[in-house]
Amino acid sequence: MLLTAIILFNKEKLMKKMVLHGGRVLRGKVRVSGSKNATLPIMAASLLSDSPSTITGVPMVRDIRTFSELIKILGANAYLESNMLHIQPDTINNFKAPYELVKTMRASIYALGPLLAKYGRAMVSMPGGCAIGLRPIDLHLMAVKKFGAKIEIKHGYVIATAKKLKGTRIVFPKASLGATVNTLLAASLADGVTLIENASKEPEIVDLCNFLQSMGAPISGTGTGTISIKGSRKLNGVKDYKVIPDRIEAATLIAAAVITKGHVTIENVMPQQMALFFDKLKEAGARFEIKGNCVKVMPHKGRLRGTDITTEPYPGFPTDIQAQWMALMTLASGDSIIKENIWENRFMHVLELARMGAEIKIDGNTAVISGVKKLSGASVMASDLRASAALILAGLAASGETQIRRIYHLERGYENLDAKLSGLGADIRLENEDSV
Ligand code: EPZ
Repeated sequence: MLLTAIILFNKEKLMKKMVLHGGRVLRGKVRVSGSKNATLPIMAASLLSDSPSTITGVPMVRDIRTFSELIKILGANAYLESNMLHIQPDTINNFKAPYELVKTMRASIYALGPLLAKYGRAMVSMPGGCAIGLRPIDLHLMAVKKFGAKIEIKHGYVIATAKKLKGTRIVFPKASLGATVNTLLAASLADGVTLIENASKEPEIVDLCNFLQSMGAPISGTGTGTISIKGSRKLNGVKDYKVIPDRIEAATLIAAAVITKGHVTIENVMPQQMALFFDKLKEAGARFEIKGNCVKVMPHKGRLRGTDITTEPYPGFPTDIQAQWMALMTLASGDSIIKENIWENRFMHVLELARMGAEIKIDGNTAVISGVKKLSGASVMASDLRASAALILAGLAASGETQIRRIYHLERGYENLDAKLSGLGADIRLENEDSV
């Protein structure tokens, strides 16, 4: 029943395309929503308790709804209304995250840690392929095995069982946000202390650690590569936990202001989490001021300068802003080089940007962008969430009409981006697809 609803919802979204007329200068104020990638691990963490949690500032986006559906499928309750999420976890009676959900949202793998730690069993579908890269889950599985869990892969599912997880030392060969999430979740109800080395330092991990600490889990080393966590017998629910703002949405809105040479104030930003992005913007010649949690963008003279980036784990340049950066660079003067070090297939937006007049050459994980003076609107196709954002940015600056098909990707992670941009004066709307 729930799954049918999700499939119908997704089909309906498949029918939409975004239509933009470029060339408008954006003006005004816009507020960044809460972070999707911080909310999802916190939702999973709330399942570790028997008492309810309330999370505020939650973005009303599809991935959050999908995770809420997963929580309901597990037998617990999740209500999302007006950016507030209420989770009542004490009625879990099903331990299976089904393929139909996991294939639409890979973060469903976050069910593994809490189910295993609290109930000693979990059955989570293997996620399968993904548009941006292979996205293996070997590090998640390595971690839960280190806690003493038994893992089998059967009929496309990871089947994990354990009597009681035991605190351990886990050294990740590479930093993984998702594997760090699952490890923290498993560790917080394990017997004894767990030490995670080469842990992910992303702000979303810090937010998860803060939430777990509010639940009563003792954690040290938050935000560093070495996190230590002492397992508890029982954890509390948390009232009114406010999730951090979305740094990727903030960067996207700032890029929208910059690419249209707008006068825009972006509110609810945590600039300290975006230091390298701001350094690169400065290097490129964008004009902006940071005051507390606001960023004020002012129009720059002439064109931006071609500026290179390399995507890396935090505090490096985020892969989730790579496509948007590329959109900015298509119009910069001179060449810029983008190296994508996280996902092996995250250049799907390149050919679409080329349809709008961008000049980009790809060689393995490197893109060389030769800035052009103008982009022209075209019919393009979004391949993932951040590619959608990049095409919107290009469309805002292009002459004429841009139509973006498969825009349903955008709704996974941006809360009302079309409404926010049209509030700033963009000519942007969603229309029904004439042909799918
Ligand atoms: C998170 O994905 C984000 N998703 C991604 O955002 C983001 O691109 C990514 O982190 C990197 O910052 C969510 O937070 C829900 P990883 P995650 O595990 O956790 C390799 C978006 O647009 N790896 O940090 O899946 C992997 O192949 C999305 O919002 C393994 O080898 O990313 C990659 O090269 C897209 N084995 C690297 O680690 C594993 O078991 C980092 O991946 C796990 C990962």
